[in-house]
Amino acid sequence: MSDAIGRDALAGDVSLDERRLEAALRPRTLEEFVGQNALRDNLRVFIAAARARGEPVDHHLFCGPPGLGKTALAHVLAREMEATLRATSGPVLERPSDLAALLSNLDAGDVLFVDEIHRLHPAVEEILYPAMEDFHLDVVIGQGPAARSIRLDLPRFTLVGATTRAGLLTAPLRDRFGYVARLDYYPPEDLVEILRRSAGRLGVVVDDAAAGEVARRSRGTPRIALRLLRRVRDFAQVAANERGHGALAHVTHELARFALARLEVDEVGFDRLDRAFLRILLEKFDGGPVGVETLAAALGEDRGTLEDLVEPFLLQSGYLDRTPRGRVATPRAFAHFGIAPPAAGQRRLF
Ligand SMILES: Nc1ncnc2c1ncn2[C@@H]1O[C@H](COP(=O)(O)OP(=O)(O)O)[C@@H](O)[C@H]1O
Ligand SMILES: [Mg+2]
Repeated sequence: MSDAIGRDALAGDVSLDERRLEAALRPRTLEEFVGQNALRDNLRVFIAAARARGEPVDHHLFCGPPGLGKTALAHVLAREMEATLRATSGPVLERPSDLAALLSNLDAGDVLFVDEIHRLHPAVEEILYPAMEDFHLDVVIGQGPAARSIRLDLPRFTLVGATTRAGLLTAPLRDRFGYVARLDYYPPEDLVEILRRSAGRLGVVVDDAAAGEVARRSRGTPRIALRLLRRVRDFAQVAANERGHGALAHVTHELARFALARLEVDEVGFDRLDRAFLRILLEKFDGGPVGVETLAAALGEDRGTLEDLVEPFLLQSGYLDRTPRGRVATPRAFAHFGIAPPAAGQRRLF
């Protein structure tokens, strides 16, 4: 059921090639990071102030749906601080000693990036509290009655956490961040700017109208925009090769529309999974309300995939509502698929 285009780009199972390309296209400075202006302005202040004091910046938490630039921003922050970034993620840190080893190897000023920080094991998370707060580790040596705790001082460092599920973070962890920022979906003009900069690095010419078309169909998400750009480039490349050896890959509006249709990305950016989700909600459950577990079972997807990758954009763009009794399709969703909403009295009651 998963779609090869937007979806795996978000699911984390990104290929090595994909990762290399992402790294090559990643913004390196705050200047190169497009959009999220309020957040960017604040970061600029925090970085300048910390640098003036000669201290590391305070701990930062970046929240928001996948593909919006959390990892990119962590790298930018480290670079702007001229600091070394060390990256890990919640699920990788299985035992408290895994994190203790990482922390005790940090140098002063380092940025420790913990991706998917909501997935930290509680016992690992506890190590983080004193480390973040007073820069020390409490290490327990021995077992049973002979066990004793020794205190290890750590250099001052900056923790940068990223999460797609801010709601799952515990309050004590959340409270230890000096700054919590939410990344929002990008308006098409920002995505056009990101596409314009990347097209140059990918060696492809993209007409303005074509960039606009890709941007409008990217669900407000830079990762999807860049993924679509690479696939559209493939179509342009093949067309150029047919024109003759050495012809330049050129993405016209017409070619972009053709390629996007072939990729099954529709006018509003829905891909196969978005459409399947809404169709089941509309057709099988008369628009809801229906529980997310039921929808997941009907789709053969797991609940987390729907909650992380499908619902946020549908909620934000007004196709879906969340109610205490379950998910409900909005009139806009009915209109998108040309389905008449059921009369008020006929709504299914669960
Ligand atoms: N504001 C931005 N400006 C330029 N490129 C961006 C921006 N946000 C994200 N990107 C690019 O989009 C891709 C996905 O971003 P990433 O940081 O990996 O997202 P996340 O960590 O939130 O899932 C990367 O290639 C990244 O460089
Ligand atoms: Mg990331």
